[in-house]
Amino acid sequence: MFRKHPRRFIIATLTAALAGLAYAVLNQDAGWASSLSLSSPAGASRMVDAFEAASGRHAGFRRNHAKGTCLSGRFDSNGHGTEISTAAFFRQGSYPFTGRFSVMGSNPSLNDTHGRLRSLAVAMTAGGESWRMAMNSVPIFFVNTPEALLEQLRASVPDPQTGAVDPVRMDAFRKAHPEMQPFEQWLDTHRPSTGFDNAAYYSVNAFRFIDAAGRTQVARWRMEPEALYAPLSNAQLEADDPDMLTYGLVSTLAEGPLRWHLILTLALPGDAVNDATKMWSTQGHREIDAGVLVIEHLHAQVDGACRDIDFDPLVLPQGIQPSDDPLLRARSAAYAESHRRRVKESGGR
Ligand code: HEM
Repeated sequence: MFRKHPRRFIIATLTAALAGLAYAVLNQDAGWASSLSLSSPAGASRMVDAFEAASGRHAGFRRNHAKGTCLSGRFDSNGHGTEISTAAFFRQGSYPFTGRFSVMGSNPSLNDTHGRLRSLAVAMTAGGESWRMAMNSVPIFFVNTPEALLEQLRASVPDPQTGAVDPVRMDAFRKAHPEMQPFEQWLDTHRPSTGFDNAAYYSVNAFRFIDAAGRTQVARWRMEPEALYAPLSNAQLEADDPDMLTYGLVSTLAEGPLRWHLILTLALPGDAVNDATKMWSTQGHREIDAGVLVIEHLHAQVDGACRDIDFDPLVLPQGIQPSDDPLLRARSAAYAESHRRRVKESGGR
């Protein structure tokens, strides 16, 4: 019938496409449409609203990882990373950076002993290229789509009657999201480190590395500390010192700079490259030690250089590209919206 009436075919196709689009817009939390919409400015706004609803609005602060300290130092590249990427940072040399240690959560006065995760963000420039990283001390994330994160945030909005999170809603979320299990198991089997200085920090998401011949290699990376990991002791937990992590950092840094190795882990066939909830096996992967991140100075967040930086994980040098992991685009959009709100509130610089 359509062969006889090509105009009808075109109209039918257009109608179907428009109906699909209308459905997508009306059902912004469902399927591929919401992956797109949560990466749009409007979607990012809904996501950041959800962070605020879950933990309160703290004007001038990041809507997640609100508590933190600025730092500065250099990345000493040994040249080995050039094997898989043309990024300027992998050429042998020393590149300055601004960074930030933080703990997860939207409350800037969170107690350090209560957090199970430490984070490190880095903003570097080299040869006109920029690279921003925001890394966590757990190698995987608890959900693999932005929709699931939005759902989790909405489930954790405190009940107005009790002021507490409704355990029934959280339980229902957990049951509906078995992909959370590896993250929870990792937390149960790895006590948090005693400090910021002796934790490893992971990219979590995978990225594509492009070499000089145009070949692509997918990889994740981590910053591996030279300081030995030590688990938080019961005594430290009981001491309940709210600023334990920053105080610890000030005293260890007084003894000399702190050092982490940038380790690139190359994906093997079968590795989940677009799913941040999946661990890669601990065996058989080739790793490249690309150089040393040296932290030399700390600065208060209130007037430090990191305060107004958006550590957007999609600010990448030439020679590194995002994977198709849907978290990445939603992260980029949400960080921009959180940055827009907090810089406006604090007057910016
Ligand atoms: C869709 C998923 C995610 C969303 C919507 C999200 C949201 C946010 C927001 C709103 C901020 C505050 C940004 C700012 O004001 O500058 C933030 C900070 C941060 N996020 Fe995420 N996040 C996501 C996934 C992740 C993942 C997978 C990681 C793991 C590496 C991560 C690590 C961090 C770190 C380290 C910071 C602090 C960066 C800094 O010091 O400025 N996030 N996140």
